[in-house]
Amino acid sequence: MVQPTQQNIEDLAGAALAELSALDSLESLEQWRIAYLGRRGSLTVVLRGLAGLDIEERRRIGALANQAKQSLESGLEARTREINEAALLRAAQEDRLDVTLPGRYPAEGRLHPTTQIVREICAAFAGMGFSVVEGPEVEWDHYNFEMLNIPKGHPARDMWNTLWVDYTNEAGEQPMLLRTHTSPMQARVMESRRPPVRVIVPGKCYRYEATDATHEWHFYQVEGLAVDEGITFANLKGTLYEFARRLFGEERRVRFRCDYFPFVEPGVDMSIDCFACQGASGQAQDGGCRICRDSGWIEIMGAGMVHPRVLSGVGYDPDKYTGFAFGLGPERIAMLKYGIDDIRHFYANDLRFLRQF
Ligand code: DAH
Repeated sequence: MVQPTQQNIEDLAGAALAELSALDSLESLEQWRIAYLGRRGSLTVVLRGLAGLDIEERRRIGALANQAKQSLESGLEARTREINEAALLRAAQEDRLDVTLPGRYPAEGRLHPTTQIVREICAAFAGMGFSVVEGPEVEWDHYNFEMLNIPKGHPARDMWNTLWVDYTNEAGEQPMLLRTHTSPMQARVMESRRPPVRVIVPGKCYRYEATDATHEWHFYQVEGLAVDEGITFANLKGTLYEFARRLFGEERRVRFRCDYFPFVEPGVDMSIDCFACQGASGQAQDGGCRICRDSGWIEIMGAGMVHPRVLSGVGYDPDKYTGFAFGLGPERIAMLKYGIDDIRHFYANDLRFLRQF
């Protein structure tokens, strides 16, 4: 057995620590530990050799050997920690979060263009003192036609291609239908309150219709009704003129022409001068005006003075009260305003279309 000396303990410890500092993996550290501190490791062998020394030397060299063992152990511990930390740091750097990457935006919803235009229309009338009411989409024949001066069998019913609902009341006398316009709310509102009445009614309507670029079988309407003592045709014109200016610009001009709707007398249609060609009134432009088809005018709604029969039908005295009513199609208004060429876009649910609004 080798006799340990101060010299060979110091040499051994120095070599071991120098070797240790060059190691850079946990596996090589383990090999190092086995080589020096393992059961047959160099330092262990040296320690075992202490037994052969005399008592004085054993105490002196033993203390040195223990110190050497401790410094090897703490060196190993420190190096293990360093290697672990380096590994952690490397891992952290490898899957580091790159905060300069643009984030993923959550899909954002928005209002349907029809909803937007309906709200805009309602806001324009609300600003003139009208309040908003809504009514049923499945309606009685009674309100959709009868109360609007459109009796059964009357040819005027042909103006509305009706989708009937397979249902009648117990008496079997009131066919149901999908409302063909928002006008039935005129009678419903007047039955429920006394004048003055000033309401607008936005809502969905249905017609048995072949679809094309300007016809849908379902669409929106906004109905309007104002009834009080002393309301005249001048009030109708003034109100609708103001509406046209609010939606289509301050400089708009309007035109009223005779039209027929059974629930008004006189009945009119209202047009605005074409905002696209500035109402170049029939003077054809290069290629023509797509919006007004070179007529200079764009029809935007039907209107009229409430028919006395509609008033008396709901118990209003037509000698005391007068009123005006109007109805317009928001999709048509939106098509004009935003240059949309096909009403079917509104209900095709194509995001490329919807995202533009
Ligand atoms: N309800 C009519 C339609 O669907 C539109 C209309 C015209 C409404 C004249 C009115 C009006 O209130 O006075 O064709």
